[in-house]
Amino acid sequence: MAETFEALVLHQEDGRTVARLENLPVDALPEGEVLLEVLCSTLNYKDALAITGAGRIVRSFPFVPGIDLAGRVVASSDARFRPGELVFSTGWGVGERHWGGLARLARLKADWLQRIPEGLDPRRVMAIGTAGFTAALCVLALEDQGVRPGDGEILVTGAMGGVGSVAVLLLARAGFRVVAATGRPEQEARLKELGAASVVDRREVAESGKGPLASARWAGAVDAVGGAVLAGLLKAVRYRGVVAACGNAGGGELVTTVYPFILRGVRLVGIDSSMNPMPERERAWARLARDLDLARLDAITSVIELAHVPATAPRFLEGKVEGRIVVRVDPRA
Ligand SMILES: NC(=O)c1ccc[n+]([C@@H]2O[C@H](COP(=O)([O-])OP(=O)(O)OC[C@H]3O[C@@H](n4cnc5c(N)ncnc54)[C@H](OP(=O)(O)O)[C@@H]3O)[C@@H](O)[C@H]2O)c1
Repeated sequence: MAETFEALVLHQEDGRTVARLENLPVDALPEGEVLLEVLCSTLNYKDALAITGAGRIVRSFPFVPGIDLAGRVVASSDARFRPGELVFSTGWGVGERHWGGLARLARLKADWLQRIPEGLDPRRVMAIGTAGFTAALCVLALEDQGVRPGDGEILVTGAMGGVGSVAVLLLARAGFRVVAATGRPEQEARLKELGAASVVDRREVAESGKGPLASARWAGAVDAVGGAVLAGLLKAVRYRGVVAACGNAGGGELVTTVYPFILRGVRLVGIDSSMNPMPERERAWARLARDLDLARLDAITSVIELAHVPATAPRFLEGKVEGRIVVRVDPRA
């Protein structure tokens, strides 16, 4: 094996985060039981915050970002994994506190690794990535709270983004009537191709009137946006409806009242993908492997090379990303 590997490395220079491709010595990798050759990674909103320095995601430099990776085991001191096996990892602080997937090699804890589910491959697993996995957790949360397709419309916010697109695909596949909320209503045709029954402008969701409640419409919601959009949609959730809140693309503040909760029995469920325990992960990935239409997944995925990552990351913060972005780390992948 070569003594160095190519990696995207973040540095802190004059108070700014700078990302550069560099060759690093293999022994610079952090500790972990499993050494992996990375085949693919992906970009999520959190990666964009880390790479641009717009969010305080990374605290020690130099640092290799990338919260998701799929690759082949090179060496393992853990009996669960053998050289040559294809595995992947999402979250667990990788790409935040532990060097991540935007590099040709990674060393991770065995507890953070999963086998590629039957029917998927490294590129598709990364096309799903943390965003798609989070969408699956949100859908499972609605169903676990008893929301069923006959109950009424389900709102998905940030619908053109990674979490939103996969949530629309999964919900439509499960037979729900999905309404996609977006800041890009001109993309109605694309959202309908994913399975949305109709499309609303996110401003309409946010501006749902001055009172604490609006006319009841949503049987459930998957919210990737937070802020005024989440506050607005909460006012219009039907009696005993369920909202899975996972994102803050539109803001971290939530200004609301208790009335949706105490008069309509609305349930607000928080979703965290990063430290989600392994049994729930396996359940969500089994659902993704079973239900995601791979042709549709491919249609919402763009593939970039490692060298394109620094120029692509800011697009997340401008709300310009459509669907999912896979990073082909190994040019043969
Ligand atoms: N809880 C977790 O474990 C978890 C996991 C993954 C992601 N997340 C969070 O979920 C959110 C979405 O992540 P992602 O990877 O899907 O990002 P993404 O691909 O950039 O999608 C975010 C979408 O939100 C909408 N949006 C962007 N800026 C906005 C703004 N200023 N106001 C209102 N809407 C805006 C856009 O959708 P439209 O153009 O359709 O409006 C955009 O496509 C992020 O906040 C991310 O941090 C959380």
